[in-house]
This record gives sequence, structure tokens and C-alpha cells, in this order.
Amino acid sequence: MTTANFLIRNAIPSDAKYLNRYLRSIFAESRHLVTKPEEFKMTPFQQRVWIKRKAANTHEICIVALHGKSILGVLESATDRRARTRHVTTFSMSVHPDHRGKGIGQELLNTYTGWVSEHNQLSKVELHVHSDNAIAIHLYEKAGFVIEGRRKDAIKYKNERFVDDILMAYWPNSSNVEINMEQ
Ligand SMILES: CC(C)(COP(=O)(O)OP(=O)(O)OC[C@H]1O[C@@H](n2cnc3c(N)ncnc32)[C@H](O)[C@@H]1OP(=O)(O)O)[C@@H](O)C(=O)NCCC(=O)NCCS
Repeated sequence: MTTANFLIRNAIPSDAKYLNRYLRSIFAESRHLVTKPEEFKMTPFQQRVWIKRKAANTHEICIVALHGKSILGVLESATDRRARTRHVTTFSMSVHPDHRGKGIGQELLNTYTGWVSEHNQLSKVELHVHSDNAIAIHLYEKAGFVIEGRRKDAIKYKNERFVDDILMAYWPNSSNVEINMEQ
């Protein structure tokens, strides 16, 4: 498959079965996502309801990359609706291991940050990334995200191995953000 062969759009209810299968496999494959496969309990039916709720929520979005009906990647956002924090949105994303390095992650992220910049109430994007996830950190920095914090040893892998949780942020409509923090 070449990069020309994928489509990016918002998730729709008929994606539910494919998205559910995709998420189950990605949680089994990637240590860089917090959820472990046995912790992912959503059924395809519940996934359908989840997609409908996301679509109805004006502050959240679920974007998928597809080839036919197969899900190649997904980005889903979440927003705290309380008044003091509802200008901030956060997200998590992944691309299927067979389709990484083809620009899908970048395209998902561009679509999302474009959506945020058009949104009249969202002004800041935040994310969490494991400190050993160099590829994702590179992708986010290239998109304009900056590191604004670090939670030491917040992630535990097998054999009592810990890594840090890096907090990154992006202000889509501000060209002049400078954060000076020791990394
Ligand atoms: C992080 C992730 C979403 C990136 O998706 P992707 O589709 O592979 O990303 P892209 O193809 O758009 O590449 C983005 C950048 O990363 C680089 N990259 C991608 N795969 C790479 C690899 N295996 N080695 C080195 N660089 C790589 C690309 O070269 C590109 O940088 P460049 O434009 O400067 O060359 C994907 O690796 C993934 O799903 N990882 C597992 C889950 C995860 O870590 N999610 C993020 C949690 S915060």
C-alpha cells in the first residue's frame, strides 16, 4: 500500500466492528499505549454507541485512517467540559504497525490540529507520551508541540522497568509560545 491509498475521515457508526478489532490488536502490540489488551472491555456494540457519542459531542472527535473498511490508524480526543478547563483538549493516537512510517500519523495529527484551530472554544491541545517513545515525540515536535512537564516513573513496564510520562502541549492559534523547562 502506498500513502496515496488511505482515507482520513471522522469515524462513523459502521466503523465500530473494525475499530473495535483494530483497538484490541493495537493494545496488544504497543507498550506505548497505557491500556493493556485485557483492560480493553468494549464490545463492538458498545464501540458503536461510543462512536455515536463522540460524533454528537461538539468538543470531541474520533478520526480514522482507512483502507477500504480496514482501520489503519485512529486519533481520538477527549475534553473536560467543566468551565475552567473546557478550552483544553487531549488525545491519543496510533497507527497499525504494518502501516507506520507512511505519513498516516502525521495526516491524522494535522487533521486534528486543523479541527482544533477552527473550533471556537478550544485553544490548547495537551498530550501524554512515554519518555521512550522517540518516534511519537519526534512527530509531535514536528507538529509544533512543546514539552511542558514530566511525571517521573509514571509508567511501569514489565520487570519493574519505569519510564517517565512526558506532558506536551500545542496552541494552534498562537505562533509565539515559549516554554523554558529543564527536560
Ligand atoms: C507514533 C505513531 C502514531 C506514528 O505514526 P506513523 O504513521 O508511523 O507516523 P508518520 O509516518 O506520519 O511519521 C511521522 C514521523 O516519524 C518518523 N517515523 C515513523 N516511523 C519511524 C521509525 N520506525 N523510525 C524512525 N522514524 C520514524 C517519520 O519518518 C516521520 O518523521 P519525518 O517526517 O521527519 O521523516 C506510530 O508509530 C504508532 O502508532 N506507535 C504506537 C502507538 C503510539 O506510540 N502512539 C502514540 C502514543 S503518545
